[in-house]
Amino acid sequence: MDKERIVTAMSIKEDEDQTLRPQTLDQYIGQNDIKEMLDVYIKAALKRKEALDHILLYGPPGLGKTTLAQIIANELGVQIKITSGPAIERSGDLAAVLSSLNPGDVLFIDEIHRLPRFVEEVLYAAMEDYVLDIVIGKDHESRSIRIDLPPFTLIGATTRFGDLSAPLRERFGVVLRLSYYDVDDLKKIVKRTSTVYQNEIEEDAVNALAKRSRGTPRIANRLFRRVRDFAEIIGDGVINEKITNHALSKLGIDHNGLDHTDYRYLRSIVEKFAGGPVGIETIAATIGEEITTVEDVYEPYLLMEGYIKRTPRGRMATEKAYQSLGIKYYKGLFNDES
Ligand SMILES: Nc1ncnc2c1ncn2[C@@H]1O[C@H](COP(=O)(O)OP(=O)(O)OP(=O)(O)O)[C@@H](O)[C@H]1O
Ligand SMILES: [Mg+2]
Repeated sequence: MDKERIVTAMSIKEDEDQTLRPQTLDQYIGQNDIKEMLDVYIKAALKRKEALDHILLYGPPGLGKTTLAQIIANELGVQIKITSGPAIERSGDLAAVLSSLNPGDVLFIDEIHRLPRFVEEVLYAAMEDYVLDIVIGKDHESRSIRIDLPPFTLIGATTRFGDLSAPLRERFGVVLRLSYYDVDDLKKIVKRTSTVYQNEIEEDAVNALAKRSRGTPRIANRLFRRVRDFAEIIGDGVINEKITNHALSKLGIDHNGLDHTDYRYLRSIVEKFAGGPVGIETIAATIGEEITTVEDVYEPYLLMEGYIKRTPRGRMATEKAYQSLGIKYYKGLFNDES
């Protein structure tokens, strides 16, 4: 259901545009603390001619985890092998990818929180000692063999840090949390996209797009592509504020960057549960979505922008949510606020 949303942070097919991916740390906009640290670690690893420590990247979808992993490999001058937690079903799958690595290479495991537990256990020794312990044969004829691996760097990415087991978490030397981008950084990203696509864009339009991108580069780029279509068809190709606002309203995105899905979510709390508190399971059932989708995709932006808050007894709509729905807010009557 969420796939139809233009402002979803989840990846959709058209997002797989490699030309927009920054290739170097310098081209990667924002996340300055992370970049500074990585710059030091990368230079140190290169100087010592050693594999970089294992890195865990976590944060909401679309903020640039995969992009950063590719940049790290690029800056190290090594190959990157890309796989994901759900793609590794058996320990043999992991053994195959690990034994294909050259010294210093990066192995990127996306959605690492979804690795099966027994695969995870094989990964521990690989991460710690660069060895692979595999069991061959069945029952009483089975024996364990140990294979040496080249030194490598594991980069794990996850949107759900809390779902990672403690032993796995502890084996990462570097843990980096990506945060939502501010409007200034998103403006830089929009400008960079306009340069890559060779589309002229006016300053007011840059601002309008950045403000509606939910702190997420992937959404900024997607909105850019849609607005560009409007500029080329109903305008002269130049992206200005008028065309931007027109396109965004056609796409169902209001001046706050909210769309029909956000309103469906907010309405369910306000109209069906008197503003809350209401449990996430109940909300998910009411709007017919998975709990994890509601938590990872619907809520982060609404929380960040203060439309809802989390309380021990569940989600609550704030005054801002009522205002955006045009419904009068009674402070303290239906909710916990005093
Ligand atoms: N810091 C950045 N500067 C410029 N562009 C960026 C930046 N971060 C991400 N992007 C753009 O946003 C797109 C989405 O980023 P990416 O695919 O790396 O996100 P992700 O965090 O891996 O998402 P997911 O959790 O869905 O895997 C990239 O293709 C890239 O074009
Ligand atoms: Mg990714």
